[in-house]
Amino acid sequence: MKYNPRTPQDVAKYAVGRAAVERYAHDGARLGLGSGTTSAWFVRALGEKVEEGLDVVGVPTSTSTRDLAVSVGITLLDINDLDAPLDVTLDGPDEVDRDGDQIKGGGACLLWERMVADASRKVVCIADDTKLVDQLGRFPLPIEVVQYGWMATRRSVTHLLDDLGYSDIEIVRRSRDGQPVITDNGNFILDAHLRAITDKGLLDTQLNLIPGVVENGMFTGIADEILMASPTGDLRLIELPNRKPARRTSWYK
Ligand code: 5RP
Repeated sequence: MKYNPRTPQDVAKYAVGRAAVERYAHDGARLGLGSGTTSAWFVRALGEKVEEGLDVVGVPTSTSTRDLAVSVGITLLDINDLDAPLDVTLDGPDEVDRDGDQIKGGGACLLWERMVADASRKVVCIADDTKLVDQLGRFPLPIEVVQYGWMATRRSVTHLLDDLGYSDIEIVRRSRDGQPVITDNGNFILDAHLRAITDKGLLDTQLNLIPGVVENGMFTGIADEILMASPTGDLRLIELPNRKPARRTSWYK
């Protein structure tokens, strides 16, 4: 074993990453490569297979995934150059419910993640089993906004949330080490502490109508399957035949 997961959660992430490679990464596959720690385990496991001769190409969903993929020898494709949909994108959630709807963007990569998912025939949510929840919303909902006028955008988001019945919602511009987090696209992230989300589809569509909002992390109806692992390495596959995407944009599906 080349890599050594240390915590029980990492063991689960490693297990699901390896299982995803076994299940979806066949010779000739064109893959969307998710972002975050779970996806990183997947990308490392994929790199091991590439080293053994597996022939795949990947489209990364962030600069960090791009750099990791290059470092483990995976050939990359530019999303602009796709002449056909990707076979499958594998990406992790911050939270996922039993409909397969997800909160994403904990790693600030939500825009590319959604674009790559949109360019894929199939999307698989890969997760350790702590990510499965009965109701979304304990994890703050990430909203990517342009830097210009971000406080005005935040006011508009507050008004929308108020209209949707969420009152006294804390919306925080994300920072790290005292500095605002800047996304791969040069934008800020607002984290909306909704606590319990009741209208997933409305949030997914309405937030993006606000000028200044670039993308939001409420991913409804995007995942076709959830592949999940426990710290003991037990795997579970949840198929989602009745997906309900609030926004259907892709011409591929
Ligand atoms: C990045 C994401 C990640 O996929 C999400 O935060 C899950 O990350 P992790 O696997 O580290 O828990 O949405 O924008």
